[in-house]
Amino acid sequence: MNKKAVFITVEGIEGSGKSSVIAFLERFLKNKRFKAAVFREPGSTAVGEKIRDILLDNGNKNLSSYTELLLYLAARTQLIEEKLIRAMSKYDFVICDRFFDSTLVYQGYGLGMGRVVEQAVKMFSFGLTPDLTFLLDTPVSKGLKRIKSKDRIEMKSLRFHRKLRAGYRRLSIKYPRRIKVINARGNLGSIFKQVEGILGDYLSAL
Ligand code: TMP
Repeated sequence: MNKKAVFITVEGIEGSGKSSVIAFLERFLKNKRFKAAVFREPGSTAVGEKIRDILLDNGNKNLSSYTELLLYLAARTQLIEEKLIRAMSKYDFVICDRFFDSTLVYQGYGLGMGRVVEQAVKMFSFGLTPDLTFLLDTPVSKGLKRIKSKDRIEMKSLRFHRKLRAGYRRLSIKYPRRIKVINARGNLGSIFKQVEGILGDYLSAL
């Protein structure tokens, strides 16, 4: 792959404020005259959006864990092959709202599929690894309160969501150089300031 772009991902539990941070990143990079492309997972391709609908549909309560894992991987494969590889050679920055850390946390820790997920994630990311990941950390109760109509995953138990937060923390300890934890319980100004500081440090070290 002819990779020119810096690959940034934004991760966090439900209602952690990823969309605001992504909008901020886009503005920040645009002001600095960088070309940035933004994608979301699952989704950002016609097939991926259809898969997303299946995954988040409240009616699909009996979805098997393996089906769920395979659908997330299928949406990712489609995104990588259809758009990400090209974007990596064309843009200065590629930003993705969730990527394989979500699979490691939600299916790996949350659904308890650990080992299988680790292997599958490696196989179906085709060598693509984020350069920098912003992990928005906020208490589960605060995140869930922000959500108006809950999808299939947001409807899961409080215990499940607490496991996700802990899973993300474990990942950030495992990959401290890549995953930067943002304290996302404060106001947007304080969140953006943390993001800007980390991105500034990253850019000046390039
Ligand atoms: P969101 O992007 O709006 O947060 O919705 C995506 C949902 O899918 C969210 O609940 C996290 C979940 N998810 C997984 O469980 N595994 C994955 O690999 C990805 C990308 C998302």
